[in-house]
Amino acid sequence: MAFCSVCKFLRRGKYFVLLLLVLSVLAWIATFAGETMKSVQVSPTTVQTVHKGETLEGELNSLRSVTDLQNTPAPKVKCPEESPLLQGALKLSFESSLTLKDVEQENKAVAEGQYRPPDCTARQSVAILIPHRNREKHLLYLLHHLHPFLQRQQLHYSIYVIQQAGDATFNRAKLLNVGYLEALKDYNWECFIFHDVDLVPENDYNLYICDKQPKHLVVGRNATGYKLRYKGYFGGVTAMTKDQFHKVNGFSNIYWGWGGEDDDLRIRVELQKMKIVRPPPDVARYTMVFHKRDSGNEINKDRMRLLGRTPQVWRKDGLKNCLYKTLSIERLPLYVNVTVDIGKPQAS
Ligand SMILES: *[C@@H]1O[C@H](CO)[C@@H](O)[C@H](O)[C@H]1NC(C)=O
Ligand SMILES: *[C@@H]1O[C@H](CO)[C@@H](O)[C@H](O)[C@H]1NC(C)=O
Repeated sequence: MAFCSVCKFLRRGKYFVLLLLVLSVLAWIATFAGETMKSVQVSPTTVQTVHKGETLEGELNSLRSVTDLQNTPAPKVKCPEESPLLQGALKLSFESSLTLKDVEQENKAVAEGQYRPPDCTARQSVAILIPHRNREKHLLYLLHHLHPFLQRQQLHYSIYVIQQAGDATFNRAKLLNVGYLEALKDYNWECFIFHDVDLVPENDYNLYICDKQPKHLVVGRNATGYKLRYKGYFGGVTAMTKDQFHKVNGFSNIYWGWGGEDDDLRIRVELQKMKIVRPPPDVARYTMVFHKRDSGNEINKDRMRLLGRTPQVWRKDGLKNCLYKTLSIERLPLYVNVTVDIGKPQAS
């Protein structure tokens, strides 16, 4: 008895779904009546899947796909090789009265840190990762310049601020590993920019896209007379594809305090026979916003010893063993704030 009433219910349910389906197909045909036959030809396959659909959920999904079809906007063309919006070298301003609200007002097209060019499909999808603690003013200046800069480059991008919780010694490299792993949970980013909070790019021909080889974007900064700090320098702002970064097992997790972690990454890149490329020096220029060394980010006196071990330990020390606890993820208008507990230095 109970079994049969279930049958009846199912049968009735099926008719109802069928009726809904017929109605929506009719509505759909009516909407597309003016269009070419080509688009109508899509319908038989959709209808077939509905008949084959065995569960109620399957049928509902097929119904949904019919409505989705109606809402799909016309496909966009690929953005041009060189964006027509680029302006070249700019004089940067750092107004002390600037607020986060001002920057939000200036960037209404950005939502939850993310932006897509409105008129074309971006050539790359890029996640910008900024390690952070107690540098709110620098972050504000960087967001103020970086959002319009990236929009002029017609990129699909998102900005992630990786905030180290607590007051153990700062660990830039581990924060960047966390940023990479967390950003990939949101979207399959093909390119990552590892970005210091105090460096602001001066020229939008310095493209925030990835290359066939790892790319170092800071050739010069005002603090060093716009000269490369030293041959092989790979710090400040770097760009690596998802695959390049994965191949080197990311950054090392064991550099606490200032220095060394960028040289470690260079060694990893070289061990993989990759070659670091740089944009021309007249383009790869940055302004370094003035600051004193932060407490909690003292020079890492152990860095030379650690660098000597990189060829032996890189396979085990990196993305693969990056342990952390995500404390919060705040999706703010201009950036995603990922706050993490990354632990503290261990005796080694
Ligand atoms: C670089 O420019 C910034 C912003 O104008 C300024 O605060 C800083 O002092 C400059 N640094 C040097 C060494 O000129
Ligand atoms: C990120 O979130 C944490 C936790 O809410 C907060 O303490 C911190 O100030 C935030 N950082 C930024 C840059 O928004």
